[in-house]
Amino acid sequence: MNILIMGPAGSGKGTMSEKILENYNIPHISTGDMLREAIKNETKLGLEAQTYMNEGKLVPDDLVIGLIAERLQQEDCQKGYLIDGFPRSLPQAKALEEITNKINKPIQMVINLTVDFDALAERVTGRRICKNCGAIYHIKSNPPKVEGICDVCGSPLAQRADDTVEQLRVRLNEHYKNTQPCLDYYKEKGLVVDINASQPIEMVYNDINCALAK
Ligand code: AP5
Ligand code: ZN
Repeated sequence: MNILIMGPAGSGKGTMSEKILENYNIPHISTGDMLREAIKNETKLGLEAQTYMNEGKLVPDDLVIGLIAERLQQEDCQKGYLIDGFPRSLPQAKALEEITNKINKPIQMVINLTVDFDALAERVTGRRICKNCGAIYHIKSNPPKVEGICDVCGSPLAQRADDTVEQLRVRLNEHYKNTQPCLDYYKEKGLVVDINASQPIEMVYNDINCALAK
């Protein structure tokens, strides 16, 4: 399967990706995760991206397009892909189309998660992540078995630097200004499946699973 998962900050892209990958043996390509890794490793890309990410703004197109182009040309993407958080602007969508055509893996479906603002605010402020393995939790809706500790690897959990209500507003603004045009572009191509992601995690996943099975 060649799938994109899209939706505003905190809509559940990472959470649903984890679940989809339990059933599909394809690589998960998250530009947010790749950029956070670059920041952690203090690479040139990481240093450039950090300022934008800390402010909740989009990282410049050329940086992320280069990142995704390199990743999609790796051999494991011949199995397909689940791309999370890319594209976020029309130039990114056009670049992705070129790359996926070049590797002969055109996009088959765009899963679009929709959630209202209050729920997003609750989700990002309550989110905790494992910096070691990337597992995602929520203090209320998806807590770890032991408070503050990752179920998967036992490492301590942390809050993301951009998980405040102020930065959520900036990220949502970027989403509606730059990313919505990508969704409109994919809608015209008949690729988008809208999923009501305000429901509990298992129900959202069930709807995604039904869409993928069609
Ligand atoms: P990125 O890491 O992609 O962040 P985002 O889009 O802001 O999305 P999030 O990771 O915040 O949320 P999510 O939708 O994955 O939700 P999650 O599953 O964690 O990008 C970060 C930054 O990197 C951007 O701001 C930008 O600067 C830069 N960047 C990345 N890609 C870029 C690109 N292509 N171009 C330019 N810049 C780029 O869930 C959230 C919480 O809710 C969790 O706690 C979870 O447990 C909980 N939850 C999930 N689903 C449910 C549910 N159904 N019910 C209750 N709780 C739920
Ligand atoms: Zn972990």
